[in-house]
Amino acid sequence: MDVSLHEADVGHTEELTRLYSENRAYLRKWEPERDPSFFEPETQRRLLAEIDRRRREGRQWTALIHNGHDYVGYMTLNHIVWGALRNCRIGYWVSQRHAGQGIATAAVARCLDIAFGELGLHRVEASVRTDNPASIRVLENNGFRLIGLARAHVFLEGRWHDEWLYERSEPGPFM
Ligand SMILES: CC(C)(COP(=O)(O)OP(=O)(O)OC[C@H]1O[C@@H](n2cnc3c(N)ncnc32)[C@H](O)[C@@H]1OP(=O)(O)O)[C@@H](O)C(=O)NCCC(=O)NCCS
Repeated sequence: MDVSLHEADVGHTEELTRLYSENRAYLRKWEPERDPSFFEPETQRRLLAEIDRRRREGRQWTALIHNGHDYVGYMTLNHIVWGALRNCRIGYWVSQRHAGQGIATAAVARCLDIAFGELGLHRVEASVRTDNPASIRVLENNGFRLIGLARAHVFLEGRWHDEWLYERSEPGPFM
């Protein structure tokens, strides 16, 4: 499959606004509550500019997922810390109408190559709601190891949810 990651910048404002708008109801279960203004191009442009600033500071790396024809999702490495840890957290989503085609699995693989390659990170953490079997599979497909259960870890849809915590180290003796 021809899945690639295009580093996000303000030039993606229109595409990202479209993607978020098309998936507004779909993502409600998995993302923080959004103000209606979030779905307007001006807000997305501002957020993309902020993402670009954090990229230049080495604190975040974000991309749009492309399937060879169109932009179909979002991938981010955030909470990047350097020093003795070289650690980050991964987050992603794929458009509802492109689900179940292996896109997230392939996109996370590409993202790990970037994290451990050009970015020089050592470890990637993920947390996933216990009622999200598709995302759990995406992590397992990519060699993430289960660390444990974090109780009441994320507040979504008006209540706290438990999450599984996963980790993936760079290829080599640590894996
Ligand atoms: C989770 C998500 C990214 C998966 O994207 P995707 O492109 O459909 O994922 P893939 O096609 O690469 O893989 C999906 C895997 O989940 C499995 N799966 C899908 N639905 C499932 C279910 N209800 N129960 C068990 N497994 C399921 C598929 O069989 C596949 O596993 P396999 O490769 O071992 O067969 C997508 O559904 C999404 O964006 N969801 C909303 C946001 C979200 O959950 N983000 C992640 C937060 S941690």
